[in-house]
Amino acid sequence: MKLRTTMGRNRGLLVPTLRGVARGVVARRAEFRHHVVRDAWTIAKRFAAPGVVNIEKREIPLVMSAKVDGYLDDHQRMLIAALAQGLGFRTFFEIGTNRGRTTWTVVRNCPDMRAYTLDVPLERSADAAELAMGSDDQVFFRPGEATGEAFHGTQEETRIEQLWGDSASFDFSPYAGTIDLVYIDGAHTYEYVHSDTARALEMLSPGGMIVWDDYGSNPGVYAVVNELAPTLDRPVYHVFGTRMAIYSRTDFVVRRPFDDHASLPTV
Ligand SMILES: C[S@@+](CC[C@H](N)C(=O)[O-])C[C@H]1O[C@@H](n2cnc3c(N)ncnc32)[C@H](O)[C@@H]1O
Repeated sequence: MKLRTTMGRNRGLLVPTLRGVARGVVARRAEFRHHVVRDAWTIAKRFAAPGVVNIEKREIPLVMSAKVDGYLDDHQRMLIAALAQGLGFRTFFEIGTNRGRTTWTVVRNCPDMRAYTLDVPLERSADAAELAMGSDDQVFFRPGEATGEAFHGTQEETRIEQLWGDSASFDFSPYAGTIDLVYIDGAHTYEYVHSDTARALEMLSPGGMIVWDDYGSNPGVYAVVNELAPTLDRPVYHVFGTRMAIYSRTDFVVRRPFDDHASLPTV
């Protein structure tokens, strides 16, 4: 039997693919920018960040055996739930509730979890924000009845406390040193992420973890995390295929060669 190498097979696709790209740039310019240029830029930034360690999901052994139940529209929340479940976390604090799908997914998969989730008060207008907001933040800034709807009326709701306030002025002091998993996903400007990160570090328990959403894709998150990473006692990881950056006081990564796709990790 003759075996063709992957490189050989890809070489055959080069010309038709480049032709398709040229056609797409002309006929579907906006889609090309959104799906190709933006993704390529995100991947390049991720590769270029000096202080953040890039990992694959298979370098997180506990994820390889995790089974979680949750909303699949954003697969990242399944990974957050798997980390919380696998590390036996008992307290979760989310900045930026929105519909509450991540909070519900985390609580659903962690029977001992107590969760707190903060969003701006329902009547709040974006103009009243304490710090600078980005245009992308305005898209999600729709405080209303739908905030937390994913857990309203569910059996998980009794373990979830919904909190209201602007994260830049909210009093986080009652949670100091007690939160196992902090998820930063409120406003994404440098000013907000910087402030939210300082509060997250204060809230973190001795074995806790901080997850930033939109690392790589959002310049504010990217700048804060890259600046902070070299000053921390442990690495900050970015998980390939997600928007997540993670700082953890509990070990959860086993490094593997980046091109080792075949051998199964020891779970
Ligand atoms: C991207 S959504 C969060 C999505 C949610 N974490 C999830 O995983 O489904 C951002 C949320 O942050 C909230 N938000 C924006 N600025 C905030 C602030 N200063 N303080 C608290 N929440 C804020 C918005 O109202 C919006 O609901």
